[in-house]
Amino acid sequence: MKRLYLLGLIAGLTLQPVAAEPSSALLDDKPAFIANLIEQMTLDEKIGQLRLISIGADMPRPRMLDALEAGQIGGTFNTVTRHDNRPMQEAALRSRLKIPIFFAYDVVHGHRTIFPIGLGLASSWDLDTIATSGRVSAIEASADGLDMTFAPMVDISRDPRWGRTSEGFGEDPYLVSQIARTLVRAYQGDSPAAPDSVTASVKHFALYGAVEGGRDYNVVDMSPMRMHQDFLPPYRAAIDAGAGGVMVALNAINGVPASANTWLLQDLLRRDWGFDGVVLSDHGAISELMRHGVARDGREAARLAIKAGIDMSMADSLYREQLPGLVQAGEVEIGEIDTAVREVLGAKYDMGLFHNPFRRIGSAADDPPDVNAESRLHRKAAREVARQSIVLLENRDRTLPLNKRGTLALVGPLADSPIDMMGSWSAAGVATQSVTLHQGMLEALGDDAVLLHARGANITDDKQMVEYLNFLNWDNPEVVQDPRSPEQMIAEAVAVAERADVIVAAVGESRGMSHEASSRTRLQIPASQQALLKALKETGKPLVLVLMNGRPLDLGWAKANADAVVETWFSGTEGGHAIADVLFGDYNPSGKLPISFPRSVGQIPTYYNHLRVGRPYVEGKPGNYTSQYFEEPNGPLYPFGYGLSYTDFDLSEVRLSSPTMTRGGRLQASVTLTNTGPRDGATTVQLYIRDEVASVIRPVKELKAFRKVALKAGEAREIRFDLDDEDLQLVNAQLQRVVEPGEFEVQIGLDSQHVKPARFTLR
Ligand code: NOJ
Repeated sequence: MKRLYLLGLIAGLTLQPVAAEPSSALLDDKPAFIANLIEQMTLDEKIGQLRLISIGADMPRPRMLDALEAGQIGGTFNTVTRHDNRPMQEAALRSRLKIPIFFAYDVVHGHRTIFPIGLGLASSWDLDTIATSGRVSAIEASADGLDMTFAPMVDISRDPRWGRTSEGFGEDPYLVSQIARTLVRAYQGDSPAAPDSVTASVKHFALYGAVEGGRDYNVVDMSPMRMHQDFLPPYRAAIDAGAGGVMVALNAINGVPASANTWLLQDLLRRDWGFDGVVLSDHGAISELMRHGVARDGREAARLAIKAGIDMSMADSLYREQLPGLVQAGEVEIGEIDTAVREVLGAKYDMGLFHNPFRRIGSAADDPPDVNAESRLHRKAAREVARQSIVLLENRDRTLPLNKRGTLALVGPLADSPIDMMGSWSAAGVATQSVTLHQGMLEALGDDAVLLHARGANITDDKQMVEYLNFLNWDNPEVVQDPRSPEQMIAEAVAVAERADVIVAAVGESRGMSHEASSRTRLQIPASQQALLKALKETGKPLVLVLMNGRPLDLGWAKANADAVVETWFSGTEGGHAIADVLFGDYNPSGKLPISFPRSVGQIPTYYNHLRVGRPYVEGKPGNYTSQYFEEPNGPLYPFGYGLSYTDFDLSEVRLSSPTMTRGGRLQASVTLTNTGPRDGATTVQLYIRDEVASVIRPVKELKAFRKVALKAGEAREIRFDLDDEDLQLVNAQLQRVVEPGEFEVQIGLDSQHVKPARFTLR
């Protein structure tokens, strides 16, 4: 029988543990089991549970094992194999109370099989597809002994200068909330205790995507109404879907860092939203409270964080150093420590670790002989998801799809760069296992055509930028410069292009350019690549741009000059196959933008659901004293929800089941969608609501429903949406979600700008 121990009195630093028999009957009663365990813990053991340690970075491995045996660690992150995790779990189980640890990792868009980055997943507008990416991630991560993922990342971003825009799902609260819910369920499966589930830790709570100026780690200053209306719903959706964890953001919110923010973590998260999982800090966030200037020293930082409600301190030193003294001095109550410990133990209980600490680690005999084996990948799923994430932005004179005949030229620094295919946060993905566009096109063409290839340009010729990108957290320098001069490289590419019937140029950003700490002031494709594109354009050959990037770019030149433009984001392990599928028409593109593309940096923020103003700009109407920029066209270059297909779709006028809706009632809005073009294809029908008059100003429109529909060439289908009160809610000046009677407009379209309207009255 397992040995447990009992403490005579309430835990304290000086008390000695006394051996006792455990009550295994308690194991099936979570609250009793955890209460019983807490009663037996010393203060030191309790504080140990509150520490989340990065393997290697925070502590050398041998010391780690000692600390685990001493019960000084609650969980770890950054290991990715059962073989690595097993000795750590064994060490934890040699600790006095044998409390297992959990293993976490940033499995953000795939674990070994890498799926498209967040913006790509969102571009599919297909929740089943997104669920596939999450389920496969959970299966692969749990098979590597992981219990928790630091995902989904649901920060709404409306400022593409922010490098982490790439990780999120775009600008819209409704779409991002749907994805948040979908991914939590996909990661956690039927229960976070299942051996093939991982606990979702939604991040970054809260509002990280709204950092001022898009500069990473900057402050967030936001009205409460905007928070509740636009930025908080995705976190809420993840929590309501049962996310077991919340990771707290690094930014301050209206003057108080999130990590010390009792309003955020106590009032909103625990009291109003009823969250009962574990709250984690982000990396080193507690010591950063000193740099924020709200804590004089480490002691004060630890006190603020534990009191605010940070249960676990990531990359901790301060909880361990400071909490004992704070408790002894009576500045932190033992009850406050116990509350945090209860959440950590509760999460472990929910992961099933008390029932079986090796639930996901398994036995050594079953370890995969080669963790990177091809057989462990889910390539088919990755290709299907990646195809759906690709957005066709331009297709002049039906340049695409390309023929698999003749001679094609493939140029650009991203045409054959396996590491960039994966995008940032590529977990345990192996670059050499990702299919580049060059490989994908070669395979698709076989012997039917000739594919010429030249690099044409470096990602950038800016030495400082290269140094910065290679300095970031990567194991090896990722941005590898071709030593030839730009002129030599362009000349080679032009020579290749001149021998070809069509040019495919793979250009954009290296993956590190759209990452944490990678904020940009410019959104253009870097100058080295622009020079290449201009030279290619001068050949007069049809020019197809395949973009790889992690944020909306300024695509003015591309729109005016390229014959076709395909947004592929960073499309993952099977990206090269998926892009080739689209280029050659083996898959008809169906992606839609989850974020607006501004015309220039000066237009930021550009988002479709902006609030109404007293002097709105009206397109086509001359006149000043309206809300506009006067030296370039207003509105986005490519709007939210936009994306073309190789076929054409037509939408009928909107039909409403009634001109009125009563409170508590329902209304049906329907359209007929017809595929009028030459091919089978899929598109996403989007429903927006405009509230005509309300007690507070309202967005010009808001997405409230969408449906991805596949139609055969010539096929027509009626698409019906059911609306109810919830779709008409607003956040009023008292921050209550209410429904106000009055006039509404339903708008249905295939993007956010080109819509068919119909009006109704809510009584
Ligand atoms: C810092 C990042 O902000 C967060 O997203 C990530 O989960 C942690 N580091 C752990 O890697």
